[in-house]
Amino acid sequence: MGLSNTPSAYGSLAKLLHWLTLLLMMAVIPLGVIAHGLEIGPDTLTRKARLFSLHKTLGLALFFTALIRILWALAQPKPAALHPDRKLEDFLARMVHWLLYSALVIVPLSGWVHHAATEGYAPIWWPFGQSLPFVPIDANVAAISAGLHVIFQRVLMAAILLHVMGALKHHLFDRDDTLRRMLPGRRDIRAPSAGVTEGKNGLFPFLGALVIWALALGIGAQLGVLSRDSQAAQIATLEEVETGWDVQEGTLSLAVSQFGSRVEGSFGDWTAGILFNEEPDAEGRFGSVDVQIAIGSLTLGSVTSQALGADFFNADGFPTARYTADIFANPDGGYLAEGMLTLKGNTIDVPLAFTLAMEGDIARMSGTAQLDRRDFGIGTGYDDESTVGFTVDVGVDLTAKQLR
Ligand code: HEM
Ligand code: HEM
Repeated sequence: MGLSNTPSAYGSLAKLLHWLTLLLMMAVIPLGVIAHGLEIGPDTLTRKARLFSLHKTLGLALFFTALIRILWALAQPKPAALHPDRKLEDFLARMVHWLLYSALVIVPLSGWVHHAATEGYAPIWWPFGQSLPFVPIDANVAAISAGLHVIFQRVLMAAILLHVMGALKHHLFDRDDTLRRMLPGRRDIRAPSAGVTEGKNGLFPFLGALVIWALALGIGAQLGVLSRDSQAAQIATLEEVETGWDVQEGTLSLAVSQFGSRVEGSFGDWTAGILFNEEPDAEGRFGSVDVQIAIGSLTLGSVTSQALGADFFNADGFPTARYTADIFANPDGGYLAEGMLTLKGNTIDVPLAFTLAMEGDIARMSGTAQLDRRDFGIGTGYDDESTVGFTVDVGVDLTAKQLR
């Protein structure tokens, strides 16, 4: 048996790639389903992440196998159908082949884009980095590609089912050589008609596959698979606070280590009441801050909903956090806000060092603080740092205009 196809038989490389695809598929699909279904908890987080890492790594092995396979198929004659006279059967078989080939590219690609558009938490096990050129880390890109991954993989599964049913029908009912000529080690099996010409992929089966993709996308969009998840928690309405400064732009970010890599996130909704004088009062106080944070507005890479859940921030039980502090000069330079942070029902002393640059009535401030999540009862069950680090770095950057 040769490496290459002939007009009536598959060569050994085409067969090898075909059965290797099946083998990988038998690992990748169950891994995806099991990892997806595993609840996140202190006992399962590591397992869930490992299963997803394996899913992604083998999924990419499938992707590259598929690319090689497609290039090889393009360079080869396609063995002719054994019953070209059965028009409908022939059309269906070829349409399913088109669906399978295209799915082998777009299913892993959509998973890969989803992975590259989110931060954290289950890395691909390879040395080439986790990002993709032209794919930004962005919640909308992540949501759309996750939806596409689901739609595409459902079509792939249906196509595999039809394909296997077709192969079995030929083998068991028609008792022809369709399956046998794809099995390893067989010699050239002659097609029934003499003077066999090479099989075609066909324009109509190709168009049929396109119509099925369009229908699947339409149904998926209709079911809301392509839109962003509704926010995992309610976002609290924040009270008005007294302020001498109008915050024009700002970010309140946090970063934590997860499985050894840093995941960054931020709160979309917070208010800051700032009173600040360039000269200190008799107690050395330059002013005060009163920051309120809507916990439900947090986004944290691919683990936002887990972070907002009861084990971590418990956004439904504790919808807001508040930081009130007085501002003093920092002996190390800049300023130091000294005050209390109330988060998840716990109030703890938190110093925040910051720098301030004034330009007329515009102030730019940039500060950092470090918290230990255990002080606030966040992730209590996760009592070693291999899953989620204890230290949380908080960053504040804002530009504010003085109100007169
Ligand atoms: C042909 C290859 C692949 C197949 C057949 C496949 C199939 C699946 C399946 C069946 C699920 C479970 C979905 C569910 O139960 O709703 C899943 C989830 C997922 N896959 Fe894949 N996948 C493939 C490749 C990849 C690759 C290469 C990546 C990333 C590099 C990836 C990333 C993901 C992610 C992140 C999820 C979770 C989505 C979520 O929970 O929202 N997949 N995949
Ligand atoms: C138990 C599982 C499977 C069986 C029994 C099977 C059987 C077959 C057979 C008998 C053929 C030759 C059809 C012909 O000569 O017209 C074939 C071709 C093909 N199979 Fe499978 N297959 C299986 C799984 C898969 C999977 C998982 C994929 C990909 C996701 C796949 C993709 C293809 C493609 C794309 C072709 C067309 C090859 C070409 O002509 O270029 N198969 N399969």
